[in-house]
Amino acid sequence: MNPRIEQEQQLATQVAAALKGIARRTDIKDYVEQQPQMYNGLQRAAARYVTGEERSQALNVADQLIREGYAVSLEYIGENTRSAEACQQAKQELAVLVSELGQQGKSGRVSFDLSHIGLLVDPALALRHLLELAEVAQAYAIELFISMEESAKTDAILQVYREAVASYPLIGITLQAQLHRTWSDANDLLMPGTRVRLVKGAYEEADTVSLARSEELDQRYIKLFELAVKRGCHLSTATHDEGLIATLLQKDWQGAASVEMELLYGIRPELCVQLRAKGYPVRVYLTYGQEWYLYLCHRIAEYPPNLFQAFVDIAGGQQEEPVMQYKMTSLSERRF
Ligand code: FDA
Repeated sequence: MNPRIEQEQQLATQVAAALKGIARRTDIKDYVEQQPQMYNGLQRAAARYVTGEERSQALNVADQLIREGYAVSLEYIGENTRSAEACQQAKQELAVLVSELGQQGKSGRVSFDLSHIGLLVDPALALRHLLELAEVAQAYAIELFISMEESAKTDAILQVYREAVASYPLIGITLQAQLHRTWSDANDLLMPGTRVRLVKGAYEEADTVSLARSEELDQRYIKLFELAVKRGCHLSTATHDEGLIATLLQKDWQGAASVEMELLYGIRPELCVQLRAKGYPVRVYLTYGQEWYLYLCHRIAEYPPNLFQAFVDIAGGQQEEPVMQYKMTSLSERRF
C-alpha cells in the first residue's frame, strides 16, 4: 500500500479510537456542558445528525421526510441507563413518541436500546417496559425496533426480544454482521414475517467474537441478507456503504416480505435521494434528545473525515438545514 495512504488510515484509526474514548468520558462531557461556547459549537455540529433536543423537532423532520416519500425511524437517544426511575422516564418518553406518531397518522418505526429502558437494571424490567410500549404501539400498528448493543449484552437482548415478539409481532430486531455468532442467531430467529435490521456493527469487539471491517465482513453481510430474503423477512439493510448497497440492489429480493434501505439522518443524504429517485424504498433513521453529545462522537468516530465537517459546522459554516438535503425536488440541482 502507498505509505501516505497507510499513514492516513493509521491516523483515521487513531482518531476513531480517541473519539470513542472521549465519548465514554463523563468528566469530558461534564466539562463541555459547562462551557457555553464549546457546547453551542458542538451542538451546531450535532445538528447535522440529530434533529434536536425535543420530540417535536424529530416529529417535524419526520413529517417533512414522509412528504418526500421516505419512511422514518425515530430514536430518543440514550443507553446504559442505570436507575429504574430513569428507565421508567425513558420508557414514558418513548410511549409518548409512539402515541404522538400514531395520532398524527404517521406510519413510523420507533427504535431504542433495551439498555435505555431497563436491561442493566434487570432484564425483566426491560421486558416489562417493552411490553408496555407494545400496548401503546398496537393501537396504531407502529413498529418497535430493538437496537443491538455490545456483544456482552447480545444474549440478554435476544432473550427479551424472543419473549416480547411472541405477544407483539411488530417488534423488530437488529443483527450485527460483524459478530461470529450472528449466523447462528439469524438461522434461529429469522422466520417468515420477522422484522430484522441488518447492520455491520458499531462496537469495538475482540477478534474472538467479531470481524473488523473487511471484504470478509461484507461477504458475511451479503449472506445474511440472502438468508433473510429466503426466509421471507421484512428486511432493513442498514448501511451507508455504497458498494455494498449496489451489490444488494442486484440481488433477487423475491421471497422477502419487504426490503428497504435504512440510513442514519445526516449521513449520505445524497445517496438516499438517488435511491429514492430510482424507486427504491428508503428509511431515514432520526434521533433526538439531550444525549446528542455521545451520538455525535459515534458518527465522527465511525467515519473520521466527518471531523472536518464538524469543524466547519462548529465555526458556523453550516448553510442549509440538513433535512433540505433529502428533497427530491433538488435532485436536478445536485452533483453526485
Ligand atoms: P462502513 O463503516 O463499512 O463504511 C463504508 C462507507 O460508508 C464509508 O467509506 C463511508 O463512505 C460510508 N460511511 C459509513 N459511516 C459513515 C458516516 N458516519 N458518515 C459518512 N459516511 C459514512 N450498529 C450497532 O452495532 N447496533 C445497532 O443497533 C445499529 N443500528 C443502526 C441503525 C441504522 C439505521 C444504521 C444505518 C446503522 C446502525 N448501526 C448500528 C451502525 C452500524 O453498525 C455501523 O456502525 C454504521 O452504519 C457504519 O457502518 P456502515 O455499514 O454504514 O459503513
